[in-house]
Amino acid sequence: MSLDLSASPSQGARLEALATAAGTEDRPTPFVAIELDTFDANCARMQRAFAGRTARVRSHVKTHKSTALARMQVAVHGGGVTCSTTDEVAAMVGAGIDDVLLANVVTDLPRLRSLAASSHRGRVTVAVDSPAALELLAKVIREAEAQIGVVIERDIGMSRNGITSIEEGLALAEAIERAPGLDLRGVMAYEGHLVAIEDRAERARQAGEAFVPALDLLAELRRHGWDAPVLTGGSTATYDSTGALAEMTDVQAGTYALMDNIYVRLTPEFRPAVAVVGSVLTVRSEGTIVLDIGSKRLGTDWGTPRLAGIQSEHLYTAEEHTVMRLLEGERPSVGDRMALIPGHACTTMTRYAVALGCRNARLEQLLPIDAQAGEEAAA
Ligand SMILES: Cc1ncc(COP(=O)(O)O)c(C=O)c1O
Repeated sequence: MSLDLSASPSQGARLEALATAAGTEDRPTPFVAIELDTFDANCARMQRAFAGRTARVRSHVKTHKSTALARMQVAVHGGGVTCSTTDEVAAMVGAGIDDVLLANVVTDLPRLRSLAASSHRGRVTVAVDSPAALELLAKVIREAEAQIGVVIERDIGMSRNGITSIEEGLALAEAIERAPGLDLRGVMAYEGHLVAIEDRAERARQAGEAFVPALDLLAELRRHGWDAPVLTGGSTATYDSTGALAEMTDVQAGTYALMDNIYVRLTPEFRPAVAVVGSVLTVRSEGTIVLDIGSKRLGTDWGTPRLAGIQSEHLYTAEEHTVMRLLEGERPSVGDRMALIPGHACTTMTRYAVALGCRNARLEQLLPIDAQAGEEAAA
C-alpha cells in the first residue's frame, strides 16, 4: 500500500513530550510510551460515536496486548474485548475480563486446549469457518467439559478466513448444535481488505456492500430458527459505517486507542497516543538524523513512522537504526531523545515487554504488555 505519509503538524504536540517525560530519564532507549490523556480521549471519542447505536465497541486488544489498557477500555465501553490469539484470551480472562471474543479460527490442539481452559474462567466466543475446524474445536471442548460460544466467520472479500456460501453456514450451524459444549452465537465478518481506502465515503460504500453476504447469512440462520444474536466485525477505519449497521452488535476496532502513522490519515479524529522514544545517534550535514530505533523495536510492516511534532520524512529503517530527514525546525543534538510515531502500532507493541504510561509529560505507570505468547507457547 502506498499512502502519503507527510506529517500533520497539528498532531503529536503532547506526544512529542514523551521524549523528555519526567521519570523516564533512566530508561534505556528505545522504549515505547503511551500518552494516557490521548488514549483516554480516543476511547471517549469512540464511545460517543456509539451513543444510540445497537452495537458496542468490543475493543480489539491485539493492538496493545496489555491487560491494563484493556481494563481501561472496558471501563469506558462496557462489555468485553476482542482478541486475535489464545494467549490474549488467557491473559484477558486471567485479568478478570470475562467476556472475550477470539475473532479468529483456531485449529492447533495446544491452542484449542488453552482456549478450553480460558472458557472455564469466562464467557469465551471463537470463530469457525469449516467442518474440520469445528470438529477439532468440538473434540477439545468435549474432552475439557467446557462451554464455548461460536460465531460463523463469513469471508466478505478479504480472502483470509471465512465460509463463502449460505449452505456452508447452515451446515456449520447444524454441526454446532449437535456438538456438546458449543453454543452458536451468530456471524462474524471482517472487511480488512477495505480499511486502507483513503476516500472515506468510498470506504464506507464498499464496506457496506461487502457486508451484504454476512447479513444474508445472519438472516438465513434466523429464518431457520437459530438464535443467533451476534453480528461482529468492523475496525477503526469503518466504525462509522459498518459499525453503524442496525444488525451489528460488536465492533472490533483496535487501533483507534493508540493510533499509528497510517491510521492518522484514515481516521484523523483519533490522535496518536503511542510513540517509540529513541536517542539521536548521528546528525548529518544534509539534514538527516539517525535514531537508535531499528526494525527489531519498530513495526514497519503496515507503514512508515514519523517524528512527533516535527515535519519529517522517513528514509529507511534497518535492524538497529532509523534514518529520518527533518523538513522543519532546529536540528536536534547527538544524544537528544525524540518520539517516533510508529507506522504500525500493533507490531510495534509486541517488540516490548512493558510500555511507559505517561500523563502531562510525566511517567504515571508501567503497563506490562502481558498478553503475548507465554513461555509454554515458546518452549
Ligand atoms: C478480525 C479483525 N477484526 C478487526 C480488526 C480491526 O482492527 P483495527 O481497528 O486495528 O484496524 C482486525 C485487524 O487486524 C482484525 O484482524
